[in-house]
Amino acid sequence: MPIDCDADIVSARQKGRELASQCGFPTTDLAVIATAISELARNIVRYAVHGEVLVRLVEADGKRGIEVTASDDGPGIADITLALQDGYSTSGGLGLGLPGTRRLMDEFELLSDFGKGTKVTVRRWKR
Ligand SMILES: Nc1ncnc2c1ncn2[C@@H]1O[C@H](COP(=O)(O)OP(=O)(O)O)[C@@H](O)[C@H]1O
Ligand SMILES: [Mg+2]
Repeated sequence: MPIDCDADIVSARQKGRELASQCGFPTTDLAVIATAISELARNIVRYAVHGEVLVRLVEADGKRGIEVTASDDGPGIADITLALQDGYSTSGGLGLGLPGTRRLMDEFELLSDFGKGTKVTVRRWKR
């Protein structure tokens, strides 16, 4: 799903939530997944202007889950360790988007080349 504006954030969140619901995730998990999609998509709009969010069902070791990938060719993140700290923001934001998403999801991977772009992949497994 292309992410360019606030309306794209809303529809990515909605579509991700629907897919997770079809997969049988409980309601509390749907909120968690929707929040993660929102935060990652919001960062794309705010920092990279344009990017993509991909939501898909995944399976590993007999577990089923949902994977969200948010990628962009924006400015990238200069200091990833800092960006993952609570309260760190270069835009006067709350600075909880990345660390909060990391805590909410079961798996979290952040790849960023400063000057080239950012890719965040998160997964949540069905209990
Ligand atoms: N896609 C992105 N491209 C470039 N920088 C990003 C991206 N996502 C996050 N960042 C950087 O990481 C910081 C922390 O992000 P986040 O935890 O979501 O907090 P906030 O968005 O409130 O600043 C941001 O302030 C920004 O500097
Ligand atoms: Mg953010």
